[in-house]
Amino acid sequence: MLLPLLLSLVVCAAASFTFPTRLVLQSPGGLFLENLAVRPNGKLLITSPESSTLHMVDPTAPNPTFDEVHTFRNVTALLGIAEVKPDVYGIIALVLNDTTITAVPGTVAIWRVDLSLGGPPMVNKAANVPDGMFLDGLSTVPGEPDLVLGADTAAGRIWQINLQTGGVRIAAQDDAFAPDAPAPAFGINGLHVRGGDLYFTNSQKKTFSRFPISLRGGNVAQAGPIEVLGSANGTDQFDDFAFDSAGRVWAATLPDTLTVLFPPVQGNSMLGQLNAPGSPVVFNSPTSVTFGRGGVVQHTLYMTTQAGQLIAVDTTGIRA
Ligand SMILES: *[C@@H]1O[C@H](CO)[C@@H](O)[C@H](O)[C@H]1NC(C)=O
Ligand SMILES: *[C@@H]1O[C@H](CO)[C@@H](O)[C@H](O)[C@H]1NC(C)=O
Ligand SMILES: *[C@@H]1O[C@H](CO)[C@@H](O)[C@H](O)[C@H]1NC(C)=O
Repeated sequence: MLLPLLLSLVVCAAASFTFPTRLVLQSPGGLFLENLAVRPNGKLLITSPESSTLHMVDPTAPNPTFDEVHTFRNVTALLGIAEVKPDVYGIIALVLNDTTITAVPGTVAIWRVDLSLGGPPMVNKAANVPDGMFLDGLSTVPGEPDLVLGADTAAGRIWQINLQTGGVRIAAQDDAFAPDAPAPAFGINGLHVRGGDLYFTNSQKKTFSRFPISLRGGNVAQAGPIEVLGSANGTDQFDDFAFDSAGRVWAATLPDTLTVLFPPVQGNSMLGQLNAPGSPVVFNSPTSVTFGRGGVVQHTLYMTTQAGQLIAVDTTGIRA
């Protein structure tokens, strides 16, 4: 009787949360927003798979504007963005084939955008990923400021890219990263390294998982089995996610919600979902999330959506 009891406790624990939400900005023409990073000054850098321009938004401005930071040549899509050093970012850029929803072969690259100097951005191509099929999420590697990990959602593998040397290698490959269907199905999507583990979502498989990594000779490798920590509800699919200061995970979830998970819980770690009916802002296809920096916005979760919304969610209530 113990097992059914535990299971029913887990199911009962999944709650429906409603937190104060605010539409910060709607992108011009409903431009699809894909991924975002928060700068040390609190401004947000935002990518789109339908634009070669990296944009910036000041979410605290009374009337936020969608400002151009840099436009990349010979690129149609910008995807994962991650801060590798203070105000220095890695960004995935490629030419997207709109029919196959994969990159045109040979066009995937990781660029380095340095905003730390105060003047115009210093932008350079750090590495080509010649065999990349469709890199989506991008993660830093704590303690290794030259490394990023890119999630190849179509190929089901994790690439390691060295932004200094341009070195590219496969860090990990597993069926758990692949979609169970051909493109445009999305496999591994968001990925983030935290405390010696790599956490990732697989959109098509609806999973949130982790595995331990090792770092030897400057190379990341899988160092243990993959553990599934949660599954998306019903027809939902996870996209990118962020950790809060207590270790909870906030996962952008298609088509219209945020899923909150707590990885230390064994088995299904789902705590609940956001945006129950009656919430003031409808989430239209969430893509990624990041927490604000410092002071009053450190509990504010900024979310991008496919419909071009930039939404601020005040998550303070989760602590109450
Ligand atoms: C799925 O989400 C709904 C709405 O938030 C919730 O009522 C239900 O309990 C969830 N199911 C699971 C298995 O968490
Ligand atoms: C863009 O592509 C064209 C044609 O392939 C090439 O000649 C040019 O050098 C490229 N420009 C940059 C900045 O990569
Ligand atoms: C996109 O993919 C389709 C189907 O495979 C192909 O016919 C087309 O040539 C591709 N376009 C580019 C620009 O590679």
